[in-house]
Formats: sequence, C-alpha cells, structure tokens
Amino acid sequence: MPSSNLTSEVEPIRSSSSVADAKGKLGVMIPGMGAVATTFVAGVEAVRKGIALPIGSLTQMGTIRLGKRTEGRSPKIKEFLPLADLEDLVFAGWDIFDDDMYEAASKAKVLETSLLEKVKPRLQAIKPLSAVFDRQYVKRLNGRNVKKGRNKMELAQQLRSDIYEFKKSSGADRIVMIWCGSTEIFLRQSEVHETIRASETGLERNDENISPSMIYAYAALCEGVPFANGAPNLTVDLPALQELSRRNQAPICGKDFKSGQTLMKTVLAPGLKARMLGLHGWFSTNILGNRDGEVLDDPASFRTKEESKLSVLEHILQPDLYPELYKDFYHKVRINYYPPRGDNKESWDNIDIFGWLGYPMQIKVNFLCRDSILAAPLVLDLVLFLDFAQRATELQNKGIQEWLSLYFKSPMTAPGLYPEHDLFIQTMKLKNTLRHIMGQELITHLGLEYYD
Ligand SMILES: NC(=O)c1ccc[n+]([C@@H]2O[C@H](COP(=O)([O-])OP(=O)(O)OC[C@H]3O[C@@H](n4cnc5c(N)ncnc54)[C@H](O)[C@@H]3O)[C@@H](O)[C@H]2O)c1
Repeated sequence: MPSSNLTSEVEPIRSSSSVADAKGKLGVMIPGMGAVATTFVAGVEAVRKGIALPIGSLTQMGTIRLGKRTEGRSPKIKEFLPLADLEDLVFAGWDIFDDDMYEAASKAKVLETSLLEKVKPRLQAIKPLSAVFDRQYVKRLNGRNVKKGRNKMELAQQLRSDIYEFKKSSGADRIVMIWCGSTEIFLRQSEVHETIRASETGLERNDENISPSMIYAYAALCEGVPFANGAPNLTVDLPALQELSRRNQAPICGKDFKSGQTLMKTVLAPGLKARMLGLHGWFSTNILGNRDGEVLDDPASFRTKEESKLSVLEHILQPDLYPELYKDFYHKVRINYYPPRGDNKESWDNIDIFGWLGYPMQIKVNFLCRDSILAAPLVLDLVLFLDFAQRATELQNKGIQEWLSLYFKSPMTAPGLYPEHDLFIQTMKLKNTLRHIMGQELITHLGLEYYD
C-alpha cells in the first residue's frame, strides 16, 4: 500500500509499490547559479509568498485522470502523490562566481527587479559554495570561486563534505542535486566511464575524460543523492554512474532541459507523422544573448548541444519504417550568440513538408520565448519527481528514470533502447508510471467499453 496522502476520492486499485511519506525538508543543491537556477529559486520563493503562480509546472498545476472518463476523478498531481511541499524546499548552490542568489538573479536579468526585491532576503542568504571547475571543459568562462585539490577524487570528497554540511546546517531530511551549470565541451564515453572502479581510479589520476559535472554527479550518488542533468553533457549518461545510482538507490535522469525550440519540434513532428505527411527538411536557428549563449558560442560546447538537438527528429519520424516520407530529410540546427536579446531567445524554424502526391508545403514557426522562464518549472518538477522516485520502492533502485523523458531533449534510456521523444507519448509514460506506482489502473485510451 502506498503510504501517501491520497484524498478519499482516490481509491487505489492495486499496489505494486510503496512510497514513503515526504517528511521534513527537501534540500535542493544546484551546481550553476545562473539564469535557470536563479529564476527557479526566485520563482519558488514568489510562489511561496503567494505573489505569483507556478505556471508551466506539471507537479503544481497538473491533474491526473483516474479510472474511467465517466467517473470524473481528476485530482491534482500534487494531491495524488506524496510530493514534497514547496514550503519544505531549502536551497544551496555552487558557482565559480561569488554572487549570491540575489545578485546572480539581478545579473541574469530574467525577472523584474520589482519581483526580486520582494524575495531579496531569501535569495541573499544563498551564497555560492566554491565550484569544481576547469576551463578545459567550459572555455568561455573564468571565475575565482573554485575549489583546489590534489586530484579529482579530492575535489569529489570536498563536494561530498558540502552535501553533508548543507544537510546538517539546513536540517534537510533528503537532498536532490540538479545540474544547472554551463554546457561542457563534447566528450565521448571511454574506458574510464565503464565501471565504478575505473572511474575512481580515473578520479585519482585526474583522467581528462572526467569533467566537473561528472565529479558533482559522482559525489551526489556516493551520498545517495538523486541527480538530474539539465545540460547536454554526458555527466550521468555513463555505465559507472548508472551502476552507482542503482547501488545507492539514488535515481538519475537527463539530459538537457527540453524548453523552447525542441519542445515545439516534439509537438509538431508527431503531428506530421500521425497524418503521414512527409518531410524534406527542417532548418532551426536561434539568437540568444545570455551567458548560456556565450558559452555555446564556443564550437566545442555547441557540439554537445547540437548532438542533443539533432537526435530528436530521427527518433520521432522513424525513417526506417517510413522511407518514402522521411528517409533523406535535411536537419540543421544553429545557435547564434546575440547579446542584445539576453535571455529572450528567438527561434525560427522553416519546415519543408510534402503531402498528397508529393506536393510541397512550408510551415514557419517563430517562437519569441524566454529561456529560463520555460526551464524553471522543469527544474521544480524534476526535483520533486526525483525525490518522489527515491521514496518509491519500485523506482528507487532503477537508476535511470525514463518516465521523466518529458523534460529532456536527449532522454536517457537503458542501453540498447531508443529514447522516446514524442511529447504526447512522454506525457502518457509519465502519468501511467505515476498511476502504476500509486496502485491505480493504467489508462490506455481504448474506450470500447463505453459502447458496450
Ligand atoms: N534555459 C534553457 O531553456 C535551457 C534549456 C536546456 C538546457 N539548458 C542548460 O542549462 C544550463 C544552465 O543554463 P543557464 O541559462 O542558467 O546558463 P548560465 O550561463 O546563466 O548559468 C550557468 C552557471 O553555471 C556556472 N558554472 C559553470 N560551470 C560550473 C561548475 N563546474 N560548477 C559550478 N558552476 C558552474 C556558470 O558560472 C554560470 O553561472 C546550461 O548548460 C544550458 O545549456 C538551459
């Protein structure tokens, strides 16, 4: 039986898992106190004060249908699941710059000063812990708030002490870590990532295939702390860290928040495929002026992002199954650093499609979005869902939480499994996982019984 705060109208049908209650505080530790992290924390503070709504957050705004359509049972997800309450979140972060959360949010220029002023004391209290950082992996940045150590293992030990100390000082019962740091250079999986032992030897020998984000993830998982990766870096997408995740019952998920252009892509592409419309080409370009844009202006960091953005269409459109429609489509993605726009990214998509008898048509999408406004609610949901996963007996030792694919451009999967990119399948996967864990019937949308 799930030990949850189910409302009386939600009767569990069968129970395959149990979920411990969300007792006490949940500590959220964030490597990278930039635009996304500060917009997330300031946003949670504003919601807690009752001055804004958590728009874009499925855990806070979403409902989940239970039982038949005729039953009218659609509780809010946060009432259906034993999730941590926003009031119980406490925050810490690491950064190479020594700005506190308020200063960092002011510099990021995502939120208006009038809103930041209302949550200023809370934000000012969050000072950045010194970071594990190496310019070799993020070439465009340079900061002084950086840890020193004889080797990468020693740096990992320092991060583990940070986690331990924060847990003690904040009184947090549980911790979740979410990477909101910059995109690192493109790295491939290598021998040092194969096993925990190889990685630990690599940490001691300062192996160059181990990037800072991997050191944070290693430290988190050693401490039994779930880890989400918001950037396209390899980070936890490695056998060694997946093994550590399973062993220490610290769930993981990634990679790369699906916030703007890719969100639109994974809405539109399933639509084209559903109606068997063909695709000649998809050209995507962006202008972006925040620090993320500056980091991505370095070709080595852009390569990491490009791989992440490109994988989406192939998987959704399945050219192998539909060669007449999708065999040779051309897909191009560009990101242009353009400082005047700051965090307000503008993206353009030109989509060359074809229909009946091969007649060509075009779709143009021009999305004037706000990168961090789109990403902040994803951070909130991931934190709450990862913490939930760690308390659910059936999820806690699974390692990768594929049911959280909805939130990522490059969802992590078990080896040999292709990732599910279609937003609608991802949503169904997520909600059915929640139903299953909470002992509710899965919803197949078959619906024949209504006509018996
Ligand atoms: N905003 C979005 O919509 C979106 C979508 C997908 C992915 N992302 C990714 O999320 C990450 C954060 O985005 P952002 O807009 O907040 O970027 P940002 O540049 O504003 O913030 C990143 C912060 O990380 C810090 N940092 C870099 N390396 C670090 C390290 N090793 N340890 C601690 N701090 C470190 C930087 O100093 C910076 O303050 C980026 O990797 C970005 O690619 C963002």
